[in-house]
Parts: sequence; structure tokens; C-alpha cells
Amino acid sequence: MNAREVSAPKGSVDPASVPQRALYTEALMPAIGLGTFGSDHVPVREVAAAVEGATAVGYRHFDCASVYGNEAEIGCALQRVMQGQVKRQQLWITSKLWNDKHAENHVIPSCKKSLADLRLNYLDLYLVHWPFPNFHPPGCDVTSRSSDARPYIHANFMKTWQKMEELVDLGLVRHIGTSNMTIPKLELLLRDARIKPAVNEMELHPHFQQPKLFEFVRAHGMVPVGYCPVGSPGRPERDRTSEDTAPTQDPVVLRIADRLGVHPAVVCVKWAVQRGQVPIPFSTKPSHYLSNLQGVVGEPLTQEDMRAISTADRNCRLIKGQVFLWKEGQSWEDLWDPNGEISPP
Ligand SMILES: NC(=O)c1ccc[n+]([C@@H]2O[C@H](COP(=O)([O-])OP(=O)(O)OC[C@H]3O[C@@H](n4cnc5c(N)ncnc54)[C@H](OP(=O)(O)O)[C@@H]3O)[C@@H](O)[C@H]2O)c1
Repeated sequence: MNAREVSAPKGSVDPASVPQRALYTEALMPAIGLGTFGSDHVPVREVAAAVEGATAVGYRHFDCASVYGNEAEIGCALQRVMQGQVKRQQLWITSKLWNDKHAENHVIPSCKKSLADLRLNYLDLYLVHWPFPNFHPPGCDVTSRSSDARPYIHANFMKTWQKMEELVDLGLVRHIGTSNMTIPKLELLLRDARIKPAVNEMELHPHFQQPKLFEFVRAHGMVPVGYCPVGSPGRPERDRTSEDTAPTQDPVVLRIADRLGVHPAVVCVKWAVQRGQVPIPFSTKPSHYLSNLQGVVGEPLTQEDMRAISTADRNCRLIKGQVFLWKEGQSWEDLWDPNGEISPP
């Protein structure tokens, strides 16, 4: 019996059995990660404990961000993990540049701060969290507007991106990527980047499948990472509207979950991995994060299940980003280039 069998909690998954996604660099990223955004209400210690607990049951991929306000605690958890049997190179750690750090002189120090907090000497992936520069106090109301908010200006974004590229040159990050981008913005970035984005992180769940962007990302050699994969039932109040729907209450998802004897969240996660995106479900409950991982290595959904879920799409974006709007009288849709062109400043 090896040491892992002695210490692994019951039901743990062998990390070697978790599917991987190849990036264009040929690096392999575990096809499921643990989200770490506590939605402004889950205590940081609880999230850090989940990172440690999730590693013990077989997770190797963690989706972090400076704005989640918990990288220092997660760093302590990762350090404990790496003092055990898990080596740094077996982990996949993502972090993100926050919106108030897009200025050229802020990008490298911001990444170094995340590295120091996470107690790492490199990141596997560093993302520009949103393509809009702005500042908002943590937990601000949905109606809040910042005088610092700016639209997407490609020339400015490229200045930020060149600093992201420098982070690769410096060996501080292995890959760089984007988040919350649209096709027209990605087209410009792909045209002008020296180092292409390796992933685009985007909202993806059965009620928001974004088929065009999903296919665009894959066709251009990027991996789609899917946030809110179970519909973010614990998301903050500012991210809720009366039109929102819940994929975990969808009749198709419920019927499959009932047949398999699993929580509907597990069906969402299985669907995501089988479709080809990398879901990063958040949970601090061991039974939940373990069942999500078990779902990924367990019996696949049938072709009929996959087809039925593909027809359940409701084009229901949950994370609308209202607080990032840059002038009065705008609609949140303006952030997402609904006409296929970058919304005018
Ligand atoms: N790039 C971006 O702009 C962006 C935006 C949003 C999110 N993210 C990332 O994506 C991650 C995931 O998004 P999210 O946290 O908003 O939403 P989510 O993962 O869709 O939903 C998380 C919620 O689902 C519950 N849950 C998860 N698995 C479950 C299971 N098996 N059974 C029952 N309930 C389950 C969790 O509750 P319990 O804790 O009670 O299990 C938690 O409240 C974030 O943590 C963050 O890392 C990135």
C-alpha cells in the first residue's frame, strides 16, 4: 500500500484518471478545476480549507484571482499541500489581473503580489480578468458606477497585454489568457499579440452555452474555461436579476440527475467536460466538490443526454457586469458587443 492510499479520504479520485486538456504549448491542464470565489460571503479560511481538502481528494487545478481577496490564505493551504506528497509541477494554478491594475506599470507588480500571496514562484496561467479598466470597492451595489470606468480601447488593452507577454518572458507565468472577452475583441488580440492567449475564461453552463464564442475560442487554438458551471447559486445579490434562470432546476438536467442518482450540479459539470470546456465549480463542501470530481471520471452522459442538454440553452447570462459600465444610460449588453462589433466608447 503506498502513502497516498493511506492518507486519501474515502471516494478520492486518482488525479491521473482526471481528463486533461492540451493547450497550444502542449502543456496539459486538468479538465476540471476548483473555483475559489467565495461570492463575498464564504469566509476566506473556508475557501482555503476547501483548496487543501480538494487536493486531498484528487483536484490539481485551482482558479484563483487577486480580487477574490483570499490568495494569501490559499497560499498557506498550497504550501501545506506541497509539504506533503503533491509537487508544484503536479498543480495547475491560475490567477488574474484585476481591473484596476491594467496600467503598464501595474501588471508585473500585481502578478508578483499574487505569486507572493500564493507562495509560488510561477503561475501556470495568468488572465486579464476583464477587458475593461476600472475600480470598484469590493461588494459594491449593482447600481454603482465608477468615474474610473473605461470602455475597451484596443490600443490600451495591447499595452496591458504586452506586459502580460513580458511575464511569460520573465518566467513568472507559463501561459497568459483572457476572460470575459467577445469575438470582436479576441479577433483584434489574436491579430496583434506576440504571445497568443492560451485560454479564454467565460461563463458557460447549460442555460448559457455561448455556442458561437465557444466554437471561435476552440477554432483559434484556445481552451474555453467555463465559470459558473452550475449556475452560481450562491452568487452575490448584485449579480441577480428577476429574469435569471437556474440550470440546476432545468427539467432536462433534473431528469438526468434523477436517473443517475446525483445532484443536478454534477450533471452540469459532467456535461461541461464532455462538451470540451474546463469547468471550475466552486464548493467548500467536501461531499459536493468530491461528487463533482467523481462525476468527471465516472460513467459519461449518453449522446442523448448531451443532445437534450444542448437544446436546454436559454442564452441566460448570469454575470452581466453592470458595475463595469462606463457612462450613464447604457445597458449591460453593451459590455458584450451584441452587434458583433466592439461597442462604441
Ligand atoms: N473570470 C471571471 O470573471 C469569473 C466570474 C465568476 C466566477 N469565476 C470563477 O468560477 C468559479 C465558479 O463560479 P461560481 O462560484 O460563481 O459558481 P458555480 O461554481 O456555478 O456555483 C457554485 C455554487 O454551487 C454549489 N455547488 C457546487 N457543486 C455542488 C454540488 N455538487 N452539489 C450541490 N451544490 C453544489 C456551491 O455550493 P456549496 O459551497 O454549498 O457546495 C456554490 O454555492 C468561481 O469560484 C471563480 O473561481 C470567474
